[in-house]
Amino acid sequence: MEKNIDWQSLGFGYQKTDYRYVSDYKNGEWDTGTFTTDEKVVLNESAGVLQYAQTCFEGLKAYRTVDNYVVCFRPDLNASRMADSARRLEMPVFPEERFVDAVKQVVKKNIDWVPPYGSGATLYIRPYMFGTNPVMGVKPADEYQFRIFTSPVGPYFKGGAKPITLRVPDFDRAAPLGTGHVKAGLNYAMSLHAIVEAHNLGYNENMYLDSATRTKVEETGGANIIFVTKDNRVVTPKSSTILPSITRRSLMYVAEHYLGLQVEEREIFKEELNDFAECALCGTAAVLSPVGKVVDHDKEISFPSGMEKMGNITQKLYETLTGIQMGRIEAPKGWIYIID
Ligand code: PLP
Ligand code: COI
Repeated sequence: MEKNIDWQSLGFGYQKTDYRYVSDYKNGEWDTGTFTTDEKVVLNESAGVLQYAQTCFEGLKAYRTVDNYVVCFRPDLNASRMADSARRLEMPVFPEERFVDAVKQVVKKNIDWVPPYGSGATLYIRPYMFGTNPVMGVKPADEYQFRIFTSPVGPYFKGGAKPITLRVPDFDRAAPLGTGHVKAGLNYAMSLHAIVEAHNLGYNENMYLDSATRTKVEETGGANIIFVTKDNRVVTPKSSTILPSITRRSLMYVAEHYLGLQVEEREIFKEELNDFAECALCGTAAVLSPVGKVVDHDKEISFPSGMEKMGNITQKLYETLTGIQMGRIEAPKGWIYIID
């Protein structure tokens, strides 16, 4: 039975659901894994995660389709990105096939929490892993826990599809986000200062620049960025220091193969911002959120698409991507995993 929740008014927040998946790593191997109703994690005071932030995470969603199936979107790519994060942080990899299987199972266990089709809400899925045993010297832990919890969520940015405003933070607020492709807790912790400052100043998010030259557009605190040129090409930053967004990879494919648009992944200089017709943030949580304006200290760049609605191409990309996710449009082979 579907839970009695006002799905339409959900924001992007934590809501405890019934089950979470847990697997422990000890003596060089992962145990078989289990489900628990207990949302609490009890740790040794010197656990690797608490002292040296040895933790990484993923984010994906389950959707209810127009035909009332429950599906996940490309969980195999989250499995492989989490494996990359784990390797970079000297953590054991949770096997990729087991990751996908655990995602499917945990969604099935919480199926009543998957918001109805058309409600605007989805079930967010958060796999994560952390070092559990005591460490004192700076070194990796020997024991780990891998968990997955779920939470029904609404839009990441308040105001739904209304365009948002970004600001370019000063260098000392720039966060090492996504450095080396690592989706890790410590990268986000280092971005909190910039995010709180941006919010206090009335901006929705930060547009980070490359830290080496401070001339190129990178990404924002929780999403990648795409631009649309005045002649309808879809352009996105090429950078080895941003998180390789699964949504972005999917959108670039959709732009090229579904909408017949030209796409480019290339370095994007801050000086070029004035030339673009549209801008949007993309990610699992952000989906595709239009950007109306970027404030870079005393300069304001307003995109021609304005502050009232999404630009035309952004709208088409949004409708095609969400159409694929919610079963209205046929998906490329291998993108949709049905929970049965
Ligand atoms: N960049 C950052 C810093 C993120 O936190 C996220 C969210 O996961 C993304 C980009 C978008 O990645 P994805 O589309 O895989 O969710
Ligand atoms: C996601 O989109 O899944 C994210 O991780 C973004 C943010 C909530 C950290």
